[in-house]
Amino acid sequence: MARRTKRRNQPVRLQPHEIEKMRVVGRFAAGLLAQVEGLIKPGISTEEIDRFVDAETRKRGAISAPLGYPKGSAHPFPKHCCTSINHIVCHGIPSANDVLREGDIVNVDVTPIIDGYYGDTSRTFCVGAVDPEVQRLVDDTYEAMRIGIAQVKPGGHVGDIGHAIQRFAEGRGHGVVRQFAGHGIGTIFHGPPTISHVGRRGEGELFEPGMTFTVEPMINLGDWRCQILADHWTVVTVDGSLSAQFEHTVTVTEDGVEVLTLAEGATFDLNSDSA
Ligand code: MF3
Ligand code: CO
Ligand code: CO
Repeated sequence: MARRTKRRNQPVRLQPHEIEKMRVVGRFAAGLLAQVEGLIKPGISTEEIDRFVDAETRKRGAISAPLGYPKGSAHPFPKHCCTSINHIVCHGIPSANDVLREGDIVNVDVTPIIDGYYGDTSRTFCVGAVDPEVQRLVDDTYEAMRIGIAQVKPGGHVGDIGHAIQRFAEGRGHGVVRQFAGHGIGTIFHGPPTISHVGRRGEGELFEPGMTFTVEPMINLGDWRCQILADHWTVVTVDGSLSAQFEHTVTVTEDGVEVLTLAEGATFDLNSDSA
């Protein structure tokens, strides 16, 4: 998620030939997560997940955007993907010391670059059987993302996304993270507009065809507040409650929205009312 930017630039808007490039990288990113799903079991470390993501990305001739991001920073991200276990909200750093255990949840967030275009997507996986309240959090978080994406159409506003997500997730008793948000994406990783996951209907930028951004709600079983650890990256819930996240990269079409980070042959159901 992009740290909230105070700059007010023009939203990322892409041409049709660029959207086709986003479909290509988006398809690859989604395929990567589908393969990662097969690795998720008790005993695997997040370092092993990272090595797999790195290897598959190289094999495709693609680049992992997280590695060394942001360029020139004093504390660039050191790995190829983010792996966020349990109370880690986002930006968890893969490590050989972090071994998945039965009952954990883990978000894996990948962002390959192909031909200069970025595809950003993440999913939260359950490790074996998880407690029913944890499964409910994960299912509700997917639903929050879906509801947010379903708001996107020309004539609507960015605030419609946050409004719908907040209303749903808080209605289910969860906290919606405010410190991190979705972001414009295309030939840059994080650009305008900021896509807050809380907000008011009708506020913010107007959706226009070609606007391309992520929707990536982070939903907590407890309070929405979070903090960054001393490693400069890992974001945790302040109250220690579990946090889940799903992310897609989407683009505004003439009459609605297209999800770009879909695996080959996959479809995205805008209208389903369950995860
Ligand atoms: N993929 C994250 C997002 O959804 C950003 C990760 S930045 C990194 O925006 F440096 F940690 F990779
Ligand atoms: Co993102
Ligand atoms: Co991401």
